[in-house]
Amino acid sequence: MEINKSVEDDGVIFMSIKDKNEESSGSGSEDVTILAIESSCDETAAAVVRNGREVLSNIISSQIALHTVYGGVVPEIASRKHVEKMNGCIKAALSEANLSLNDIDAVAVTYGPGLVGALLVGVSEAKAIAFATGKPLIGVHHIEGHISANFIENKELKPPFMCLVVSGGHSHLVVVKDYGEYEIVGQTRDDAAGEAFDKVARAIGLGYPGGPKIDAAAKKGNPEAFSFPQAKIADAEYDFSFSGLKSAVLNYINQAKMQGQELDPNDVAASFQKAVVDVLVGHAIRACKEYKINSLAIAGGVASNSALRELMEKECAKEGISFYKPSPVLCTDNAAMIGAAAYYEYQKGKRFGLDLNAVPNLPLGDRERRYHGRR
Ligand code: KG4
Ligand code: ZN
Repeated sequence: MEINKSVEDDGVIFMSIKDKNEESSGSGSEDVTILAIESSCDETAAAVVRNGREVLSNIISSQIALHTVYGGVVPEIASRKHVEKMNGCIKAALSEANLSLNDIDAVAVTYGPGLVGALLVGVSEAKAIAFATGKPLIGVHHIEGHISANFIENKELKPPFMCLVVSGGHSHLVVVKDYGEYEIVGQTRDDAAGEAFDKVARAIGLGYPGGPKIDAAAKKGNPEAFSFPQAKIADAEYDFSFSGLKSAVLNYINQAKMQGQELDPNDVAASFQKAVVDVLVGHAIRACKEYKINSLAIAGGVASNSALRELMEKECAKEGISFYKPSPVLCTDNAAMIGAAAYYEYQKGKRFGLDLNAVPNLPLGDRERRYHGRR
């Protein structure tokens, strides 16, 4: 992936991402070209995706620097910036793809889960484009987008496969039974993995966003320095619980402070990260073996964590499981993944009306239930 970055006057980072390996094939009559929009949190993003896997353009306008001073995403600032940046992102996405609105077959947008005000900006924009052009509108589940990011660089990946989705708001282990068909094997009972990274980073003074900061600090620390509890639930084989681990780390830090001890933040970061990664990898591999699924993918912002990628790769190789991962820039929020997910919905004939609304707590399809497949 080639990333061209520039910082705008207001501190927003404008990125254009290109896949260096992508050979742009000419457009055929059967081709489906989708303009995709994402605005569920603090990234305003637009992309043009052909046939679900060929990214013609991928634009991200990241507000991260604006939220860093507050230690986390401020929803109202996020919504207001989306309003300012959205049209520029869409224009850039179309222009890089050398296309106009007339050339696209459908417009896709994330309609949940996420911050309601932020989602509404993307949803309103997509509806306006669909209304003005008469093109079909496709609403996409944000997590379905994260999972579909795996299709972009792994052309051979097809369902069924197991996917570990770990982001700032979600931690799910799902079986992707078919395109758009998911069954949950395990999920977090409390905090999401990314949330735990962000909170622990704040506690050890690394700041926001916590995930990448802990990832970098952990490289300089000793993962065996502290033995933190594992983030699992005794009576639910594949569920996660990150709040206990987070509290244990915070208590440890407070106790050390009271006793006047100096803790090395790099050691805390490395030991905390190990506790998270060991459980994520352990659950995912066990689930693949138990459900007899031979392909495993990872998705979501935390899937860009270097320790998780390394350990998962190693354990999959040991067990003979094929391992898939998106490039780090496709793990965090982007619109190319939304275009990838939308293509399979488009092919199934799924269309949304102009009454589409944002759904902040949208479940992962109406199939959000336990997996009862063959064990
Ligand atoms: O998927 P994402 O971009 O947004 C949501 O849908 O939530 O995920 C953001 C989360 C944040 O909590 C961030 O700290 C975490 O992903 N994250 C990471 C890394 N990069 C981002 N966590 C661990 N290691 C990383 N390298
Ligand atoms: Zn996300």
